[in-house]
Amino acid sequence: MKPTDRIFVAIDTPEVASARALAESLKGLVGGVKLGLEFFVANGPDGVRAVTAGLDMPLFLDLKLHDIPNTVAGAVRAAVALRPAFLTVHASGGPAMLRAAADAAAEEAVRLGVPRPKVLAVTVLTSLEAADLDAVGQTGPVAAQVERLARLAVGACVDGVVCSPAEVAGLRSALGRDAVLMVPGIRPAWAAANDQKRIMTPGDAIAAGADHLVIGRPITGAADPAAAARRIAEELA
Ligand code: C5P
Repeated sequence: MKPTDRIFVAIDTPEVASARALAESLKGLVGGVKLGLEFFVANGPDGVRAVTAGLDMPLFLDLKLHDIPNTVAGAVRAAVALRPAFLTVHASGGPAMLRAAADAAAEEAVRLGVPRPKVLAVTVLTSLEAADLDAVGQTGPVAAQVERLARLAVGACVDGVVCSPAEVAGLRSALGRDAVLMVPGIRPAWAAANDQKRIMTPGDAIAAGADHLVIGRPITGAADPAAAARRIAEELA
């Protein structure tokens, strides 16, 4: 994989025009763009199309779906029309929901004649600590719950997981080399940490076993986003 292909830039804004401008300015310099709930709820599928149309940049649609299997399958089918390379579901939705998501992605892609999106599972949100798991009745410690949910997801034919830098090495050995590890919480040595607590540099995360890196503010908040993306890809090379 080329160094640039590893980088998904997190475009965390509700504004279509600025998201589109940012995506255009990063074409060829990153592997794709990540659009999440904030953007999707504000702008819907048309907003997503407005950002990606004609750019030929892979889309990571990070909607973190979590509902009964039938509903998630329907949402996944609707999402496939947007041609995402990756989309996300919550592993805690359980095995039937995970399998329904994976099946729906595969079947709808065949039906539409488009590439199959890879389904990634979110395990334990990094905003949750041991006491939060306890409060919702999940068994800790956090690392054990992350691994349990990750194994569940991959066992249900999900392609991989979104995980924090601290979880990469453990999940790589638990899940094997075929599982996709998509990793946010990445900060080049020269960038501000912002509100991220457990960060890793791009190079260290790849060395630990990450496939793709989700990088937002170090690129989007830079005076020259294209230059920042170029610098990160050069460091990875
Ligand atoms: O700006 P920054 O690089 O911190 O952006 C990281 C992106 O990854 C954001 O879109 C954030 O919501 C997402 N993310 C994260 N930590 C997680 C899961 C997702 O930072 N555990």
